[in-house]
Amino acid sequence: MKLAGKVAIVTGGASGIGEETARRFAKQGARAVVIADVQDELGREVASSINAGIATSSPSSALPSLSSSGPAQTVLGLDLEAMDRVLAVNVRGTAACVKHAARAMVEGRVRGGSIVCTASVAGSTGGRGMVDYYLSKHAVVGLVRSASVQLGEHGIRVNCVSPYVVATPMALRGFGGEKDAEWVESTVGVNMSLKGVADAVVFLASAESELVTGLDLVVDGGYKGHRR
Ligand SMILES: NC(=O)c1ccc[n+]([C@@H]2O[C@H](COP(=O)([O-])OP(=O)(O)OC[C@H]3O[C@@H](n4cnc5c(N)ncnc54)[C@H](O)[C@@H]3O)[C@@H](O)[C@H]2O)c1
Repeated sequence: MKLAGKVAIVTGGASGIGEETARRFAKQGARAVVIADVQDELGREVASSINAGIATSSPSSALPSLSSSGPAQTVLGLDLEAMDRVLAVNVRGTAACVKHAARAMVEGRVRGGSIVCTASVAGSTGGRGMVDYYLSKHAVVGLVRSASVQLGEHGIRVNCVSPYVVATPMALRGFGGEKDAEWVESTVGVNMSLKGVADAVVFLASAESELVTGLDLVVDGGYKGHRR
């Protein structure tokens, strides 16, 4: 019961890492879990299975959080409009969440508040493609570091988790929809699991990490791809 009495909002909680996180928050005793997502039906199903609340927005605002043009998105061929769409979700969306979560905590005089963003190993490495995704995740790490410096005086911690590949719908789309979860788990995301990533989020959300802030917690199961 690491989160007993806590109130949590999980954005992107209808699927993948967010869904598993919402489930684990509920299991760890959170008093209230709110799922915020653009997939209304899926969000409702997850929410009712864990007794959580749901906040949805128009599905038309759903945007890919992975590179729109995938491996083809190189520096030389950079599609700036596709890049803007990725940045709108991954950077602007994350910044808006951090801003409004922090304002609510400061105005509500919440002590011990914890904001956990989802970056990626792509936030501290370079890649051969998906340059928009890599740069967006570096921005998330920069946001976390600055926010942690500024919000510490209000008793708010800001950290991020940086997973390697986990077989979620988004990751499968990243492989062009040609590979299934089993293939991803046995070839790319070896040692990775949704549970492992969600456990890291629970750690950062709980009092177990009460002195930890500004951390980019890499959750990669030993992946050796940290080339800079
Ligand atoms: N799966 C991986 O391998 C992996 C690795 C590293 C980082 N990540 C990051 O983890 C996060 C979650 O990804 P996932 O793999 O669980 O994907 P996913 O597709 O399973 O889940 C993402 C959820 O976010 C929701 N969403 C998308 N745009 C939204 C918006 N504008 N507002 C609200 N909700 C929105 C989707 O509807 C979906 O339910 C992403 O930031 C991703 O970049 C994933």
